Amino acid sequence: MYSGDHASAPPVTLDTLRRMKAAGEKIVSLTAYDASFAAQMDAAGVEWVLVGDSLGMVIEGHDSTLPVTLETMLHHTRAVARGLRRGFLVADLPFGTCNTPEQAMHSAVRLMQEAGARMIKLEGGALQRELVAHLTARGVPVCAHIGLQPQFVHKLGGYKVQGRSAAAAAAMREEAVALVAAGADMLLLECVPTTLAAEITASVPVPVIGIGAGAAVDGQVLVLYDILGISLGKRPRFSKDFLAGRGSIADALHAYARAVKQGEFPAAEHSF
Ligand code: KIV
Repeated sequence: MYSGDHASAPPVTLDTLRRMKAAGEKIVSLTAYDASFAAQMDAAGVEWVLVGDSLGMVIEGHDSTLPVTLETMLHHTRAVARGLRRGFLVADLPFGTCNTPEQAMHSAVRLMQEAGARMIKLEGGALQRELVAHLTARGVPVCAHIGLQPQFVHKLGGYKVQGRSAAAAAAMREEAVALVAAGADMLLLECVPTTLAAEITASVPVPVIGIGAGAAVDGQVLVLYDILGISLGKRPRFSKDFLAGRGSIADALHAYARAVKQGEFPAAEHSF
């Protein structure tokens, strides 16, 4: 249950997140890019804090995440780490930084050793099984991002819901199981139909975080600037402006955390 008092809570670990899945307690997550917001997130009880390569779009103003470099990820992850005391800090491997197991390990080690990340998130789906096995066998916790993968936008021809056909849904179910078998510690599902996301969540033992994946996943993540109503362009359907009608950013973050914990967000209108 959401109490709103997180100042003295112990740091969140992967074990905490696993226990939350087992207990059916929703995991609250947001993206963060700097120390001040990271501290606000701790105060609001955000448990999984992602330095997403979405920073290429919302911070740097690019039209995709592809221009984001490892140096930029290191810079923002360090900043978030300085502001964060309790949340579990996750960093994205940006485009082109995990083409081989060795390169992925090098990038992940830098994000963990130099910037304080506790987990790495990577796109690429089933093709990344080898990378996932390589990283996790060497002590790097991995979240495998499936469904819509923004680093593949030019292959996909746009940002579209994934897994709509029976064949695509079956492939995604297999992909999820294969990535977990390879060692993935968590999954992130982006823009996936609610029923498919629910099936995947029930079929794997690891926590599953969703964005545009309905309410039956183990936790929710959104891009910080979307929930503050300052998206560049149109706010995505799966997001919600939690600052609207509230007096402060702290209130908006608490309202988001409460809505996720109590299963009020996402509603059907935010899902596919
Ligand atoms: O980069 C990012 O912020 C992400 C979220 C959309 C989950 O991957």
